[in-house]
Amino acid sequence: MDKFLNDIEKDKPFRFTTQQLRIVTDNFSYLLGSGGFGSVYKGVFSDGTIVAVKVLFRSSDKGIQQQFIAEIGTLGKVHHFNLVRLFGFCVEKNFIAIVYEYMGNGSLDKYLFKQVKTLGFEKLHEIAVGTARGIAYLHEECQQRIIHYDIKPANILLDMNFNPKVADFGLAKLCNRDNTHISMTGGRGTPGYAAPELWMPFPVTHKCDVYSFGMLLFEIIGGRRNVDTNVPESQEWFPMWVWKNFDGGELQESTLVCELLEEEHKVMVERMMKVALWCVQYRPESRPMMSAVVKMLEGNEEIPQPLNPFQYLMDNGFGALPHQDSLNTTRNGTSATTSSYCDSSVIDVESNNIVTADTDPVQREYEAELPSVRTE
Ligand SMILES: Nc1ncnc2c1ncn2[C@@H]1O[C@H](COP(=O)(O)OP(=O)(O)OP(=O)(O)O)[C@@H](O)[C@H]1O
Ligand SMILES: [Mg+2]
Repeated sequence: MDKFLNDIEKDKPFRFTTQQLRIVTDNFSYLLGSGGFGSVYKGVFSDGTIVAVKVLFRSSDKGIQQQFIAEIGTLGKVHHFNLVRLFGFCVEKNFIAIVYEYMGNGSLDKYLFKQVKTLGFEKLHEIAVGTARGIAYLHEECQQRIIHYDIKPANILLDMNFNPKVADFGLAKLCNRDNTHISMTGGRGTPGYAAPELWMPFPVTHKCDVYSFGMLLFEIIGGRRNVDTNVPESQEWFPMWVWKNFDGGELQESTLVCELLEEEHKVMVERMMKVALWCVQYRPESRPMMSAVVKMLEGNEEIPQPLNPFQYLMDNGFGALPHQDSLNTTRNGTSATTSSYCDSSVIDVESNNIVTADTDPVQREYEAELPSVRTE
């Protein structure tokens, strides 16, 4: 039974039996929570290490099981200070589970949205930078790029010292999601955080994570959910409110919602707002790379003036689904700027055709996958 402790030390995800996981989790008695992939239980190894065991839904599908086994070795080797560590897994008959390191302070959403704010602004800034570092590692430093597809506060876990660790990377590729996560067309991601291209028939790249990170950053800055109907109408959608204040030269205006904000932090907030506005640009190639996001958040890179990320909504009427024509309009409206930190793999501006220029065939196959269209 203790063989897994050796394996984990040797950097190899251990393959558990269901029986072993029953022992580790005391027969799955302590439920930490549930999400779109499955339910998470607390467990304890024999050496006292606390773990979180995620039991996946839809685990009887043979195809999913095989793909899972093929992928899990790779995911188990992905290590970074800002990523949740994967210790092992279990695949048996109708059962798939993943064993992760346990994060003592739970997920970021619990801190961001509660009435009494316990995380100070500097800590929140650190959390934003650490999260960006974790995603940058997945995108730019792994042997094979990993797109997360579901960056949101519930997937940023906090350790005992409130260091942020990105959870659930690699899962979207492995699993079908349940209905709680679908957007209008059944694409990946969570509504409110999912990039526009995830719910339109256009190729999806790692830039969808940059968009979601931008939405997360708005929530960190605002200390509120991006959508809140209990505030004056003009402030209901926080990202739009930030843009309008920014456009009107009154960026500070929208920092007023931040509790605990000292005068000295306002420059930092302004920087974070500009970064968020860049991250949620409509055109994927206008969004920065995550490594540039890290530098900008740290204050080590000049931040150019962001363009209006929501022009497409204004063209369509708020809330309308953007279509090809409006996409072109927006492109024309915004194509003047190609920042040095943006890559240009997605949209051929000249012809208005969307192309993927990445050369890695695995990545191309993965990234060019279109969301299936649902009619519900
Ligand atoms: N490694 C972990 N350590 C501690 N708690 C965890 C861990 N992983 C998950 N949890 C807890 O379990 C809850 C459910 O997680 P889960 O990932 O299933 O759902 P989610 O993050 O809300 O949605 P998604 O399916 O999109 O990831 C989380 O909110 C978190 O509080
Ligand atoms: Mg999660």
